[in-house]
This record gives sequence, C-alpha cells and structure tokens, in this order.
Amino acid sequence: MKQFQFNDFPNVTGSRVSLRQITDNDIPDLIEISFYDAVRAENVHQAAEMQARINQDCLDGNSIHWGIVDNETNRMVGTCGYYRGLDKGEGELGCVLLPQHYGKGYMTAGMSLAIDFGLHTMGLKRIWAATSLQNGPAIKLLERLGFVKTADVSDDEIEYEWRKNNDL
Ligand SMILES: CC(C)(COP(=O)(O)OP(=O)(O)OC[C@H]1O[C@@H](n2cnc3c(N)ncnc32)[C@H](O)[C@@H]1OP(=O)(O)O)[C@@H](O)C(=O)NCCC(=O)NCCS
Repeated sequence: MKQFQFNDFPNVTGSRVSLRQITDNDIPDLIEISFYDAVRAENVHQAAEMQARINQDCLDGNSIHWGIVDNETNRMVGTCGYYRGLDKGEGELGCVLLPQHYGKGYMTAGMSLAIDFGLHTMGLKRIWAATSLQNGPAIKLLERLGFVKTADVSDDEIEYEWRKNNDL
C-alpha cells in the first residue's frame, strides 16, 4: 500500500528549524551521517548513491527523509524521518545530528515538527522509535519529546512510543 505518497516533497517550516528535501548540494556536508541499511557512507559518491535509494523509497511511499535546516544560517544540521511502518499507517521515527550541532536543541525542534506532521498531516496512528540502552542522548531526546518506553526488544535494543506532549 502506498498510502503516503506526496506529489511535492513535504517540506515543513518551523520557527527555529525547518525540514526539507536533501539536494545534491547538501550531500558533502552530510557524509558522516549518511546511512542506508545501517551502513555508513565513507565518501561523497557513496552518500549520493544512498541518497538516490532514499529518494526512491520516498517516491515509493515507504519513507520520508528530511534534512533539518537552521533557519538562520540555512545550513543542514542533521536529518530525521519516518523509515518503516507507513504501509500500516504507523511510523518509525529516526534521527541523526551532525556532531558539531549536538547539545543545541536542534533535534528536539526538528523531531517536534516531524511528529506534528506525522500526526496531523499524515494521520499516523502510532509513532515509535528504537534505540540502544546505552544511548543516553537518544533516550533523553525521546523522553523530552513525549515518548515512553514500551518494549525491551533485545538485551540492548529498546522501543519507545510517542504518547503525548502538551508542548507540541
Ligand atoms: C540523539 C541525538 C540526536 C541527540 O542530540 P542532542 O544534541 O542531545 O539533542 P538536541 O539537539 O535536541 O539538543 C538537546 C540539548 O541541547 C540543549 N540546548 C542548548 N541550547 C538549546 C536551545 N536553544 N533550545 C533547546 N535546547 C537547547 C538542551 O538543554 C539539551 O541538553 P541536555 O540533553 O544536556 O539536556 C544525537 O546524540 C545523535 O545524533 N546521536 C546519533 C544518532 C542517534 O542516536 N539517533 C537516535 C535514534 S532514536
């Protein structure tokens, strides 16, 4: 089922950051946070190949992958998106920041926009995220956004589900 295909890429504008489509010009800045099937790109060529696959997944309605842009500088600071579950009206939210932008609140702002878009524009019935027990910053981020832990998937992997956050 290709439930969430958009004719135009769904850019989302926020007050501090915005979510937008990643273009060829952005790829050199994103190499270290370019992943596909849990493999990280090592150079601009691999990152571009991965981005082409991601674009196809988005066109097929299987995922949405946004670049997070600082509205003041217009530079990308990280990425986030929905990567699984869309065929069931659900979304697994994932995210990654460029390390030089850790600890500035960018991801909280970007994920808030993605959650709001997922709930109110896509009409997702459930939003969840998976992370490692050791990933303190991710757990803190998810809890700050209103996720609660719902499952221990394995010795190391835990799952969180978005419930409600009055600030969103
Ligand atoms: C998970 C990850 C995105 C968290 O990054 P982060 O920088 O902690 O998250 P944010 O950008 O939301 O920043 C929040 C921090 O900025 C601080 N901050 C500073 N200025 C701020 C501002 N203007 N507004 C809001 N927060 C601000 C907050 O107090 C908070 O600090 P704290 O965690 O010490 O309390 C990052 O560690 C990462 O990319 N990890 C690798 C990928 C990963 O693990 N992804 C998770 C998959 S679920």
